[in-house]
Amino acid sequence: MISIAKVVLISCLSWKVLCEREPSIVYKMKNIECITIPGFSANASCFIKAINWNKAVAEMDVDLVRPLYNISVRLQVFKKDYSNQFQPFLIDVHINICDILSRRSFGSFGVMMLRVTKRFSNFNHSCPYEGHLFARGFYIDETLIPASPPLGFYKFNITIMENYLKTPAAHVGGIVWHAQIMQPVKKKIKQATNG
Ligand SMILES: *[C@@H]1O[C@H](CO)[C@@H](O)[C@H](O)[C@H]1NC(C)=O
Ligand SMILES: *[C@@H]1O[C@H](CO)[C@@H](O)[C@H](O)[C@H]1NC(C)=O
Ligand SMILES: *[C@@H]1O[C@H](CO)[C@@H](O)[C@H](O)[C@H]1NC(C)=O
Ligand SMILES: *[C@@H]1O[C@H](CO)[C@@H](O)[C@H](O)[C@H]1NC(C)=O
Repeated sequence: MISIAKVVLISCLSWKVLCEREPSIVYKMKNIECITIPGFSANASCFIKAINWNKAVAEMDVDLVRPLYNISVRLQVFKKDYSNQFQPFLIDVHINICDILSRRSFGSFGVMMLRVTKRFSNFNHSCPYEGHLFARGFYIDETLIPASPPLGFYKFNITIMENYLKTPAAHVGGIVWHAQIMQPVKKKIKQATNG
């Protein structure tokens, strides 16, 4: 049986332009919340801006109270089940951000992180980080995620830590992000211009 993904891939190879306009799935951001921890982070402002039926982008700002030298994040992914409850979904990983940004370590998450930070943020340099951090126009698409996850509602919980293997690990902030993985809305509706 030929899967939809294969058909799309074949069409993409033969007609790239079509696929750039019409992705097979979209990662639509629904809501984002940034959590600051007194003593480490402050003045967070995180919100989602709708662009069209298939796309929303995140704008994020935060001030660091002190420099961070050895940042790692824990990424946990949850997916809504049939009874509308979020259940853990496959991914629960620790990623050392400083190693990735100084290119000491790669792996699929590392490559994704590098691309995302380069494209959207001012944390595109090696550690330490200090002062004002921001991301502009952030979104995820098929070019960043080399897999086709099941459609549905997801929650990404990103806990940011300094020196997590040391005790006590300092929890310095967090991002909780809700997104819907869906087929693109293909109706030709005029885009709202009041954004
Ligand atoms: C947070 O914002 C206030 C007001 O703009 C500023 O005075 C303060 O320095 C900021 N905090 C940090 C950690 O930068
Ligand atoms: C990092 O991002 C900032 C803001 O987007 C940009 O001005 C700067 O040129 C970037 N630096 C590198 C090394 O990519
Ligand atoms: C996110 O993860 C952190 C650390 O595991 C936990 O304390 C927090 O309650 C979680 N938040 C959500 C909304 O799941
Ligand atoms: C940085 O954190 C990692 C765990 O993420 C730990 O193995 C390492 O020892 C830390 N490095 C320093 C210099 O504290």
